[in-house]
Amino acid sequence: MSQTSYDVIVIGSGPGGYVCAIRCAQLGMKTAIVEKSATLGGTCLNVGCIPSKALLTASEKYHEAAHTLDKMGIKIGKLELDLPGMMGHKDKVVGDNVKGVEFLMKKNKIDWLKGFGKISAAGKVDVGGTVYDTKNIIIATGSDVATLPGLAIDEKQIVSSTGAIKLDKVPKHLVVIGGGVIGLELGAVWGRLGAQITVVEYLDRIMPGMDAEISKEAQKIFTKQGMTFKLSTKVTSAVPGSGGVKLKLEPAAGGAGEEITADIVLVAVGRKPFTDGLGLETVGVVKDERGRVKTDAHFQTNVPGIYAIGDVIAGPMLAHKAEDEGSVLAEMLAGQSGHIDYNLIPGVVYTHPEIANVGQTEDQLKAAGVQYKAGKFPFSANGRARAMNATEGFVKILADARTDKVLGVHIIGPEAGTLIAEAVAVMEFGGSAEDIARTCHAHPTLEEAVKEAALAVAGRALHI
Ligand code: NAI
Repeated sequence: MSQTSYDVIVIGSGPGGYVCAIRCAQLGMKTAIVEKSATLGGTCLNVGCIPSKALLTASEKYHEAAHTLDKMGIKIGKLELDLPGMMGHKDKVVGDNVKGVEFLMKKNKIDWLKGFGKISAAGKVDVGGTVYDTKNIIIATGSDVATLPGLAIDEKQIVSSTGAIKLDKVPKHLVVIGGGVIGLELGAVWGRLGAQITVVEYLDRIMPGMDAEISKEAQKIFTKQGMTFKLSTKVTSAVPGSGGVKLKLEPAAGGAGEEITADIVLVAVGRKPFTDGLGLETVGVVKDERGRVKTDAHFQTNVPGIYAIGDVIAGPMLAHKAEDEGSVLAEMLAGQSGHIDYNLIPGVVYTHPEIANVGQTEDQLKAAGVQYKAGKFPFSANGRARAMNATEGFVKILADARTDKVLGVHIIGPEAGTLIAEAVAVMEFGGSAEDIARTCHAHPTLEEAVKEAALAVAGRALHI
């Protein structure tokens, strides 16, 4: 039975899907969005970025109250953790956000087709037995937790990020498998609330994709905060029982192993594209060697009229990358042109201090044989950072040695995720380190550390 027909049906309502739907509607296309979950917003709003940031903020305030406010002359009597209250804060933030997306769908006259979307043919999407006709199908189904062989996630003792944001008590010992973004952020949350944190990382450094100097500095700071790192180490088994989870660890290169016990194990070894049950095989949509939907430069799959964006295709699995792809694809479908510079997608890790980066790392520039200059400035020499009692970290700007064009910016320090925006904007305009250095930065601000790093590229930082 054929129902309403659309110009666009977007499958998946995460930041990629819902932003794409809004932009399609703004551009005059009759649009529907398919979502199988009870609420809109996908992983990011329901169990990812938003709830984790609610817990990161709350746990940071708790930790400050317990450990650092006294350094500013604030004494607190008996401090108490109300974990259900903290979880309530997180749940309210999630609830408000997902309702916000539902409001945006209504405002833009986008139909929410509730249920699991399956492509039955090009131009046809089946949602719970009802088939809808559409000129264009956009796959925005995101990603799912990647698991390790022999390690069954039960979301109780062995949890993914989904279980780790709803533990009902602070674990005594949390073992995190994977020293990437999720492991460090959620490790930070429970560490601040009193858990002992051990991070087991297969490679010889945490956050392997980051600039090496930044990941080294981060490891130093997090170790000082109490995290234990077991690098170049693999987990060969994890067996849950009444006395906790018994883990067997081995050096990644092989050799004598050790056994440790955890109350909770968090598996954070990456995510995989979600394509199960979508009917891709039926319509012949091709995937790449890593199971991602293969698309061309215009987000079109090999089947005309079927497109894909976000975590389900190549590129960093980041909400803002998916959102930008959603907007650009909508504009292309409306006959406009669009472009994304994948070199300029910023990355932010919301630990304390924050870590943010854009562009190339030193290792990437060296590998490409690019001659560059590095300018660095520590937050310990920034007046505002001192006033905030947040002097850890630095800003590093990498600029082309010949043209001074900014090629990469790497920040570890207070508000790094906000500070990186200036670098992204300058780089979007092809700007130079001198452009940043000669731009007036308000005093006293953390942004002055960015200006000073830009001055340092030319060897003329002022405050160090
Ligand atoms: P990730 O790719 O950031 O880190 C996974 C880590 O696990 C890597 O360091 C990897 O070397 C390690 N690993 C892989 N296999 C292992 C094994 N068998 N034993 C030990 N270590 C192993 O992935 P993560 O943290 O799971 O995050 C998933 C995705 O979600 C990422 O793409 C990330 O960018 C995104 N995300 C982004 C956030 C943000 O932007 N702030 C927050 C949370 C997630």
